[in-house]
Amino acid sequence: MDTFAVLDVLAFLHVNGVFPGKQGVSLRIVVPLVVPSIYAPWNMLPWSRKRHPFAMPSRKYFIGIDFGTTNSLAAWGLLSPKGRSITPQVVRFALDETGASMESMGSSIYFEEGRRQAIVGRRARRLGRRCLSRFVPYPKKLLGTQETFAVDGTPYKPSDLVAMVLRRLRLQLQKDLNARITGAILTTPASFGYARRKDLINAASLAGLAMDEHALLDEPVAALLSYIHMEKRRRISQRILDPGRGVNLMILDCGGGTTDATIARLEDTQIGSLSQNVHLLSISRFEALGGQDFDREICFLLQDTVERMSRVETDRLDPEEKECLEAELLYQSEQLKLDFSSLEMDAEAEGIQAHPHTLQTLFIRHPSLQKPVRVKLSYGDFLNAIQGLLDPSKDRSIHRPVQTALERGKLRPKDLHHLLIVGGMSKLWTLRKSLEKALGLPALQVLHPTQSVVKGAVFQHFAEISDLSRAPHVPQISGEAIRLRLRGGSTETIVPEGVKLPYETVLRGRLCTARNGQKQLTISLCAGDRIEYEANQHLGTGILDFGMGLEAEHPIGLRAVMRSDRMIVVEAFLENNPEVRTVMTAGLGLMAPEEVEQRKEEIFPSRKTRR
Ligand SMILES: Nc1ncnc2c1ncn2[C@@H]1O[C@H](COP(=O)(O)OP(=O)(O)OP(=O)(O)O)[C@@H](O)[C@H]1O
Ligand SMILES: [Mg+2]
Repeated sequence: MDTFAVLDVLAFLHVNGVFPGKQGVSLRIVVPLVVPSIYAPWNMLPWSRKRHPFAMPSRKYFIGIDFGTTNSLAAWGLLSPKGRSITPQVVRFALDETGASMESMGSSIYFEEGRRQAIVGRRARRLGRRCLSRFVPYPKKLLGTQETFAVDGTPYKPSDLVAMVLRRLRLQLQKDLNARITGAILTTPASFGYARRKDLINAASLAGLAMDEHALLDEPVAALLSYIHMEKRRRISQRILDPGRGVNLMILDCGGGTTDATIARLEDTQIGSLSQNVHLLSISRFEALGGQDFDREICFLLQDTVERMSRVETDRLDPEEKECLEAELLYQSEQLKLDFSSLEMDAEAEGIQAHPHTLQTLFIRHPSLQKPVRVKLSYGDFLNAIQGLLDPSKDRSIHRPVQTALERGKLRPKDLHHLLIVGGMSKLWTLRKSLEKALGLPALQVLHPTQSVVKGAVFQHFAEISDLSRAPHVPQISGEAIRLRLRGGSTETIVPEGVKLPYETVLRGRLCTARNGQKQLTISLCAGDRIEYEANQHLGTGILDFGMGLEAEHPIGLRAVMRSDRMIVVEAFLENNPEVRTVMTAGLGLMAPEEVEQRKEEIFPSRKTRR
């Protein structure tokens, strides 16, 4: 047997779990070290391609899509001629007026009057701020909600709107590659719950991308994949392999709408190995904080200045006009943030700090202002405006998700070896410095702040299509709290948010006792932690049948498990006779009911529900 054959056998054993991870939640990722085995000499023979487990179709594009709140990116990769690696390429989008191209596309939508097709991208953002009733600035934020956007008498659901953005990305990919694109890996914030993931998958199907839940990849995990591939490549070229040395990484994704903190432990499982084990130690969601919140803080400052200079009291404007002026000010605030960010960048390049008295001037023109208003703001004003969002002691601060992720992983800042910050906001020097100071760790400047997520998705598509990795792509940490409700109204959290899966809760008879002759127990499950039970995502209602009448006051125990595949199993048993038990299962929205039923049989082959 030659070397390639040995590598293939090892890879096969690994992906089938013969070399499992040692601890914690393990996400096994097979990196391109396996690639040479795909191109083993026998693969060159036409007949062997079909038989070989890792055979690749010819000229297969690996596609990644990062659908963001503000900006979306698409990237593709092909195997290199030697078949050793893939190098993802980011698709560029033409800018209308200047003819220049950009790596990202705006995610906003504008329905221009008299035009059949909506405008998607940065142009939509520019036009939309003047006509809010035809403008959807952040379609991603609508996912998982019941909100519809009606324009010209047509109601659009969140997935319809998101589909417009995804379709434009797909069409640009098709144009660039001159190939039909029907599948991709689509990234989502780690903080996304099941309802949003489900809506996103629907949107992808509407956009012509056939997807299931495995096509979704958490944004920070995607950034992590980019990091691993880069590290691997470096190590291969240097022929340095560190056996058994693990590192803890904090990945912070500071985007436009959300900030996600993830802590992962990276370990080499075998020397010169085919795989690398990644244990997700914790994630922390923070939906309420992103670049837009920085813009909003600057906007308050801008509003004060504009009111003072133009003598227009915004509160006295009619609501529509006021909203429109605010949209303009918010737009200008973001531009101001970008200008001060470039100022910081230039200062950093020169090895100095930006001077607080440096001024930026902008002209604000708007129909509600009698004449254009010239506003001058200093860098010091800007820092004051955003100070609260960078204060570790504040609840609404960029530090909060970091602190929560550390707490959940039972780690201290000094347990972290590396800090990686990605997302558009990571370009802001002040933000980076604030995080570095709090963690006592310099941020590694190795990843592209905005491309690493989409490139990670390309790597994942490669692993998926080439069948090199059967690693689960769903998060192995609960994204949302799971609650159980009994008929009668008592509600209990069975899986808290952000815990490692599988997770088990046992509720002894305190929750319910039988009524005389009672045979069944009705249980509902929901995902989410909104106070009002009905406001959460309903996962299912099950009737647990004991198959016999129970005595009055008989205490009933409940055991609930959420598995790594996000299937929930609830078992009710009699406290003094645990042999009398009954089981219900629920999947988390993305799992078809038949599949849930099928898996139930897998889990409980010998302990069938008593009838
Ligand atoms: N050079 C820069 N300096 C400071 N902020 C920037 C810079 N470039 C972009 N941003 C900000 O980053 C944010 C967008 O980041 P990014 O593109 O990562 O978000 P997104 O992917 O659209 O959002 P999310 O990941 O939350 O869905 C915006 O608020 C934007 O103003
Ligand atoms: Mg993003």
